[in-house]
Amino acid sequence: MPNNLLKGKKGIIFGALNDQSIAWKTALACYEQGAEIVLTNAPIALRMGEINKLAEQCGNTPVIGADVTNMDDLKNLLTKSMEHFGGGIDFMLHSIGMSMNIRKGNGYTGLNHELEHKTLDISAMSLHRLLQTAYQLDALNEWASVVGLTYIAAQRVFPDYSEMADAKSLLESIARSFGYHYGIKKKVRINTISQSPTRTTAGSGVKGFDGFINYAEKMSPLGNASAEDCANYCVTLFSDFTRMVTMQNLFHDGGFSFTGVTQAVIEQMEK
Ligand SMILES: NC(=O)c1ccc[n+]([C@@H]2O[C@H](COP(=O)([O-])OP(=O)(O)OC[C@H]3O[C@@H](n4cnc5c(N)ncnc54)[C@H](O)[C@@H]3O)[C@@H](O)[C@H]2O)c1
Repeated sequence: MPNNLLKGKKGIIFGALNDQSIAWKTALACYEQGAEIVLTNAPIALRMGEINKLAEQCGNTPVIGADVTNMDDLKNLLTKSMEHFGGGIDFMLHSIGMSMNIRKGNGYTGLNHELEHKTLDISAMSLHRLLQTAYQLDALNEWASVVGLTYIAAQRVFPDYSEMADAKSLLESIARSFGYHYGIKKKVRINTISQSPTRTTAGSGVKGFDGFINYAEKMSPLGNASAEDCANYCVTLFSDFTRMVTMQNLFHDGGFSFTGVTQAVIEQMEK
């Protein structure tokens, strides 16, 4: 449905690993809506080469490597992107998550705290690092829009989501706090989207994922939101139709977050 919602806008998309990634679908949706984009991911992820296919589909757009825990990488990315665009940036998608402890099979009561530091840095502090770099370089245009992706485990307990729940709470807090400062400075808006469970590389890494994606499906009046739906929601937040929305955590979950119980779950319990 190309209707040029992002015509003339220039943005950076973080985190497209493969064609399942929410960032991958968002890059395609933004391009389809008339945006110019730069793609980025960690150098190790770029070595897989998948992202080059996406770059081709987005009009041979540049791919610039950046580890989001490295300030020099972020500075280089923003500087090169502005050179490429010939000016400032209108939107950025932070679609990045990594739990070092989940990867190692360490549960919440047995975390390795060195690994936890790394998890928090990659999954949450990276949003602060990115925004601070943009703030200092004055890289974002007035009314620019920044979106980070999060999960409802920031508000409610999902035991196997483990340390990522803490990382997402921090991510949402950073979006809110930086949203204040960047709003005052340059009318930049910053929000997080709290997405339904989605089958991607990061999502499927969580223990018991099949169980809880099915549970969420049954607990959501509209069913789970897909990665494509999430991409379309990101487009609206990058567009000029949502200019006064900032510092929010926006649930994009088919109604899951406000549902106490559904008939489908009751029937399951009665079996
Ligand atoms: N899949 C789900 O169920 C779900 C639900 C809610 C929120 N989210 C969030 O959506 C976002 C995108 O995840 P996804 O599900 O598309 O999975 P994904 O695995 O496709 O994307 C995660 C991305 O993070 C990148 N990344 C990891 N470490 C990095 C680093 N140091 N520097 C730069 N990039 C790095 C990876 O290379 C990858 O591209 C994450 O924030 C995730 O927590 C996912």
